[in-house]
Amino acid sequence: MVEVRLESVSKRFGRVVALHEVTLTFEDGSFTAILGPSGSGKTTLLYLIAGIYKPSSGRIYFGDRDVTNMPPNKRNVGLVFQNYALYPHMTVYDNIAFPLRLKKLPRDEIDRRVREVAKLLHIEELLERYPSQLSGGQQQRVAMARALVKQPDVLLLDEPLSNLDALLRIKIRAELKRLQKDLGITTIYVTHDQSEALALADRIVVIDRGRIQQVGTPDEVYARPRNLFVAGFIGSPPANLIPAKIVARSGSACVAIGDTVYCPDKPLSEKLARFQEVIVAFRPEHATLGEEPAENMVSIEAEVYTVETLGKENIVTLLVGATPVKVVVEPSVRPQPGSKLFINVEPEKLMFFDPETELNIEYIEV
Ligand SMILES: Nc1ncnc2c1ncn2[C@@H]1O[C@H](COP(=O)(O)OP(=O)(O)OP(=O)(O)O)[C@@H](O)[C@H]1O
Ligand SMILES: [Mg+2]
Repeated sequence: MVEVRLESVSKRFGRVVALHEVTLTFEDGSFTAILGPSGSGKTTLLYLIAGIYKPSSGRIYFGDRDVTNMPPNKRNVGLVFQNYALYPHMTVYDNIAFPLRLKKLPRDEIDRRVREVAKLLHIEELLERYPSQLSGGQQQRVAMARALVKQPDVLLLDEPLSNLDALLRIKIRAELKRLQKDLGITTIYVTHDQSEALALADRIVVIDRGRIQQVGTPDEVYARPRNLFVAGFIGSPPANLIPAKIVARSGSACVAIGDTVYCPDKPLSEKLARFQEVIVAFRPEHATLGEEPAENMVSIEAEVYTVETLGKENIVTLLVGATPVKVVVEPSVRPQPGSKLFINVEPEKLMFFDPETELNIEYIEV
């Protein structure tokens, strides 16, 4: 268990800047998800912490120790690769024992620790099998066991569940969360799946194109996305984004979304007054549909485009002008494509972004 700290860490591969000036602290015993799309620098970040890569600039600390130039085998990290990378010619037992044999631990201690971690991950029955004789979920547990058997200070997981089917992912994800809490190992979990990050982590680091976009609890990144990228990446479906104009009404700044004009109170109206245009955002699950504008709501007229029936809910796509907007509704709500409806949103659920900097104006100081 240890605190991991990155100070202004950059990593370049020739001309490609894979990570740009990343400064981050992973608290002792915390569970952090690194969330971003393909190519955003997630694996690079993990390999820098593991010591597989050296930073082009910046420093990395484990507690008080500067590990920037320390080789991987000295760092006591457990790493689970995306493809598990089990040794195919070794049994499960030997795969798990491998890191301990490298350390030349006594035979009986190796045996004790292998059996202990196998029990923890419910794979005691599989110890004599070869990786090819295991299901994906079982291989995943073996890879996890091999990382944990070293009793690492830091556990690094690179999309460990991405090869599993949806049901198994949800099952293992819950077990993983419990295991991490029980063991208390500082854990860094890489994923491109926002629902996985929200479900698992105490804290989420959202990354795009090598730059950190936001660091926050699952609640914070969901409720107060720092910029348009985070708003459009978190949530399923992600937040709706509608271009709008700022207009003056009796001396204060209001937002015109199509024919709808919404006039917020201070301090929001003061912030809005600096813009000519903004992007209005709200989450599909925060809106309702009605034949009429609803009282005390912001009501936006729209035309129904399609309805997707998902069993526990429906997703209605509507057009506001030319902009598609999604609203999550009860399974019984199935409006006719082509019909006109009002999208009703509580004003508190609206978010506003600067179209140029893409920042949430909530984060702008007045
Ligand atoms: N060894 C390398 N040489 C050159 N470029 C690299 C190397 N490793 C990564 N990159 C580049 O750095 C960027 C970040 O790559 P990285 O593997 O960290 O992304 P990722 O977020 O893990 O993506 P994915 O979700 O697809 O695994 C990409 O543009 C990638 O092409
Ligand atoms: Mg990767």
